[in-house]
Amino acid sequence: MFSRYKKEAPAPAPARESRAVPSASAPATASMAQSAAPSPPTKSKLSFKATPAAPIAAAPAANDKDRRRRQRILEVKSQLHTRLLENLNLAVLDAASEAELRAEIAAISAEALSDIHFALTSEERLQLNQDLYHEVRGLGPLEPLLKDDTVNDILVNGPNRIFVERNGILELTDVKFKDERHLLRIIDKIVSAVGRRVDESNPYVDARLADGSRFNAMVPPVAVDGSLVSIRKFKKEKLGISDLANFGAFSEEMAMYLEAAVATRLNIIVSGGTGSGKTTTLNALSSFIDHSERILTIEDTAELQLQQTHVGRMESRPANVEGKGAVTQRDCLRNALRMRPDRIIVGETRGEEVIDMLQAMNTGHDGSMTTIQANSARDAVSRLENMVAMAGIEMPLKAVRSQVASAVNLIVQASRLQDGSRRMVSITEVTGMEGEIITMQEVFRFERTGLEPNGKILGHFTGSGIRSHYSDRFKRWGYNLPNTIYDVVE
Ligand SMILES: Nc1ncnc2c1ncn2[C@@H]1O[C@H](COP(=O)(O)OP(=O)(O)OP(=O)(O)O)[C@@H](O)[C@H]1O
Ligand SMILES: [Mg+2]
Repeated sequence: MFSRYKKEAPAPAPARESRAVPSASAPATASMAQSAAPSPPTKSKLSFKATPAAPIAAAPAANDKDRRRRQRILEVKSQLHTRLLENLNLAVLDAASEAELRAEIAAISAEALSDIHFALTSEERLQLNQDLYHEVRGLGPLEPLLKDDTVNDILVNGPNRIFVERNGILELTDVKFKDERHLLRIIDKIVSAVGRRVDESNPYVDARLADGSRFNAMVPPVAVDGSLVSIRKFKKEKLGISDLANFGAFSEEMAMYLEAAVATRLNIIVSGGTGSGKTTTLNALSSFIDHSERILTIEDTAELQLQQTHVGRMESRPANVEGKGAVTQRDCLRNALRMRPDRIIVGETRGEEVIDMLQAMNTGHDGSMTTIQANSARDAVSRLENMVAMAGIEMPLKAVRSQVASAVNLIVQASRLQDGSRRMVSITEVTGMEGEIITMQEVFRFERTGLEPNGKILGHFTGSGIRSHYSDRFKRWGYNLPNTIYDVVE
């Protein structure tokens, strides 16, 4: 009755089939046939922050009967998935519409459930069919999390512990993989779809998924307690300057200042810890760039979404399995300099490309921007110095520093605070050198004043009382910022 999607070869003989379905032992295709969590997976139960010790203890809160039933459904789902894979013709399945495939799954699962005399409530049945659909077409248990727009990051620590980040806070979800093999199968599905491989001899992979999400996986034995996966979901609607202002990421005064800084082509570094909002800030800052300018972006994983008309995007790539064909950010950057850019934006400077970035900033590509992993403006500068040293350039420290001091005009420090909020905690100008020291002045900062009982951080943005080092430049370019924006706010 489902001939269109059934394999050409006849399905297993009834005797074998009826044995295969209820059998609890894994069939030959077991590694391809594991299954997903039984309960609605998007609801996260536990806040990682609020109850750090609770997650594991709280999970078995459901009573024993419930737990046994859930376990049983999990087993049944695994069997049904095996049966689906045996029965569906995967080659023609790609062409099937969603409705056709769903109907097919519903029919096969109804048949199998009646074979094994296992009754489900209509809600359980719907959930089961939904999970099976995700197993066949999507990324199994991860699928609902990928679809959930409130989730920023998905972090998998082995098959049983899947965290998500919502609003800056990590939460343990009740989503689970059946076991490590199931998790590996989904990882394999993801990476093979983008032409990559991950296995024991090649145990980690960093890739961009078809939808733009950033994906990283590390599998055992390097990952000790089961595969580790992190996914930074791609947002179609990138947060713009006004969104960030609405979230309280910076003040109106800071926005005015940043607009002038970008428009007058200061070289800007966005510094911050991992996941602090650097790329988002960089993307938002780029909205102040004039549409007549030619912008070239260089990234390891293309995340930036510039709104300008004249944008050339580049993405580095790792070597292939034979160790050939790598194109580094530095290669891209060197090439970009020959492509008549008005501005160069490097997604994140983390290695030898720092040399070319500093040179570009110093030689007529004003208004270039990048991000860097660092905890403060001072730290960002040291990181740049270290990167130059690591790139094997023999240069006296003073020379490196003067390169950095003349290349970088502004450091915007992004931070994810304990309450999950992401803010621009400081804007610092690089003003020059005094002896061997790079001089800087902070013009804006986030002043923390306290903590609400619910853990929310209290505070406000303030100027430092010092007028911008670039005030005259702003004025020359037609940006007459009132001096009051630098006032200290009590
Ligand atoms: N001010 C903000 N308010 C709310 N959410 C934000 C804010 N800034 C960034 N985000 C969200 O936080 C997540 C991480 O942001 P982003 O990718 O910019 O961080 P990052 O510092 O570049 O991270 P990484 O170090 O991994 O490259 C994204 O999902 C983004 O949408
Ligand atoms: Mg980033």
